[in-house]
Amino acid sequence: MQVAGRPYRSIWLDEDGWAVRIIDQTVLPHQFRILRLETLEEAAHAISDMQVRGAPLIGATAAYGLALALREGADDQRLERAAKTLMATRPTAVNLRWALERALDLLRPLPTQARAAAAYELAAEVCEEDVAVNRAIGEQGLRLIRIAQERKKDPSEPVQVLTHCNAGWLATVDHGTALSPIYAAKRAGIPVHVWVDETRPRNQGASLTAWELGQEEIEHSVIADNTGGHLMQRGLVDLCITGTDRTTATGDVCNKIGTYLKALAAHDNGIPFYVALPGSTIDWTLAEGAAIPIEERGAEEVSRIAGRLEDGRLASVDLLPQGSRAVNYAFDVTPARLVSALITERGVCPATREGLLGLFPERREEAAGA
Ligand code: MRU
Repeated sequence: MQVAGRPYRSIWLDEDGWAVRIIDQTVLPHQFRILRLETLEEAAHAISDMQVRGAPLIGATAAYGLALALREGADDQRLERAAKTLMATRPTAVNLRWALERALDLLRPLPTQARAAAAYELAAEVCEEDVAVNRAIGEQGLRLIRIAQERKKDPSEPVQVLTHCNAGWLATVDHGTALSPIYAAKRAGIPVHVWVDETRPRNQGASLTAWELGQEEIEHSVIADNTGGHLMQRGLVDLCITGTDRTTATGDVCNKIGTYLKALAAHDNGIPFYVALPGSTIDWTLAEGAAIPIEERGAEEVSRIAGRLEDGRLASVDLLPQGSRAVNYAFDVTPARLVSALITERGVCPATREGLLGLFPERREEAAGA
């Protein structure tokens, strides 16, 4: 997508053909800084420190992280150790496991000297696939935005979409998941306005979603996290679309903390609540959202807030009285019954086991064990 009118992806191979470039998401929207990753350790740090984040981008970065590790030696021990290091970076987004298992399946049977090149090829394939899949999610979700437009009293008024966190192109390799239908609507000439939840504590909505929508010239307003219910009661939201970090085989959805409350409010107000996801975000081994590991991050993400001072410097300040404790659960689970439908690259389906298997029939055996 666009940055200052120039096309970018969130991750790419550097000109030298081996190092990896990423956009440092910890300093957006105030600085646009590109980082170069040269080692496994740098890739793992980029994921755990959230220089890159968002389920699909975490998977893509892990795939490249493995390739970087294997440049320095690709025996079995090094391969397994590198995968273990990357797997430990963040616990909730299942795309990390998906990408690493796919890489290990490919690389384990190969001779040592062939592994690094194969890992690079696979990482590039994971990225290209992600771009195509997200674009398809956009086309599938566009149908739902069209339906919302047709239902409006005045169809020339913008369709009002509420989203939580950042599930745009910055969270993927390109296009995004939840934001992809919005970008598709723009291409189709449908006016859209997006309510952007600020998404405390890290403010991915205020700093990342607002930034990327602005770069794409899409109308949006940032709202405090607790505003959504009020807007819904007043008829100011036509539909909600969020992303997900892990979806169970039965359609429970784990996403950024606060998603569940938005789904409850949408349910209470009869507003469709859609979740957009690539197939790689489905954990076919799980039947219960309660079994999804929920990441707990540092308390300082809650007790402090970062921003830009008037003189342009970036700073972080204390919010809490001295001595108050803060707790930081990064994700919550929205039960399938609150999800109106899942938007995937293969189509839109009910958030149920049968709904998902209707689109992904090849996973039936795996899902039976869940
Ligand atoms: O903690 P983050 O910023 O990695 O959380 C990201 C989200 O919760 C996204 O909504 C999710 O990964 C879907 S991204 C396409």
